[in-house]
Amino acid sequence: MLDFPRDSKVVEIVLFYSILFFSFWAKVNCSICFSSGEIDLQILSKVQAQYPGVHIINEVVEPSAEQITKYKELVAKTSNLENIKFAWHKETSSEYQNRMMEKKELQRWDFIHMIQMLYYVKDIPATLKFFHSLLATNAKILIIIVSGASSWQKLWEKYGSRLPRNDLCQYVTSSDLTQMLDKLGIKYEYYDLLSTMDISDCFIDGNENGDLLWDFLTETCNFNTTAPPDLKAEIMKDLQKPEFSIKKEGKVLFNNSLSFIVVEA
Ligand SMILES: C[S@@+](CC[C@H](N)C(=O)[O-])C[C@H]1O[C@@H](n2cnc3c(N)ncnc32)[C@H](O)[C@@H]1O
Repeated sequence: MLDFPRDSKVVEIVLFYSILFFSFWAKVNCSICFSSGEIDLQILSKVQAQYPGVHIINEVVEPSAEQITKYKELVAKTSNLENIKFAWHKETSSEYQNRMMEKKELQRWDFIHMIQMLYYVKDIPATLKFFHSLLATNAKILIIIVSGASSWQKLWEKYGSRLPRNDLCQYVTSSDLTQMLDKLGIKYEYYDLLSTMDISDCFIDGNENGDLLWDFLTETCNFNTTAPPDLKAEIMKDLQKPEFSIKKEGKVLFNNSLSFIVVEA
């Protein structure tokens, strides 16, 4: 699975919001997430620092066994997690939804985060509606996704129809999400964070990192060896234009801006 480059600014912002969200945790103490644990444990440690001794339930809904193993390993080697009860569910968000719907009473949550995961969900409006219905009073959902103002949006708009599609990942940005939330009548706050990704290696022939970046940008395995040469040449030219990237200190920096959408209960 392709993963987005981690930006230290993103971590800080996530933690900043976590403090905001968890200010009511002393009463209810639950969270739900989709993840391999890196961010979660940082969020949880901030909550613990703010509310020493508070009991926390962290439910992880994650279809990848590999990610779950990583999360468990991280928990095993992290100290000071005694007041946190972890539960891992190897399932997709829709499988979780179906399982929950069979129960008589729905569990309510104080904080749900969907960080860089909605690309992989088939029916996003249904997912948003369901998880919104799980929020307790004053609870929040944090969604992080590429911004509609990022170069991802431009790349997908211009070249999406010429790139091979897999049904694993959708071309979805914050513009699509805010439209969906508006349609559902769900309230949210919206923040954009400028983030860049160094794609300089894409322009060095035979560079291994460059090859991986091409695969990541086009969501195509071995793009460099399989893509029609004219398509690659066109994308290569565009990626160096100011609409897509800025040039700084000899580097080509792709606009990878992210949006933070804070959904209200
Ligand atoms: C790009 S990673 C982000 C992981 C994590 N949230 C983070 O920011 O570190 C996307 C995650 O979504 C998970 N995923 C993929 N399809 C999913 C689905 N249908 N429901 C829930 N999670 C899914 C993947 O297994 C992966 O862990």
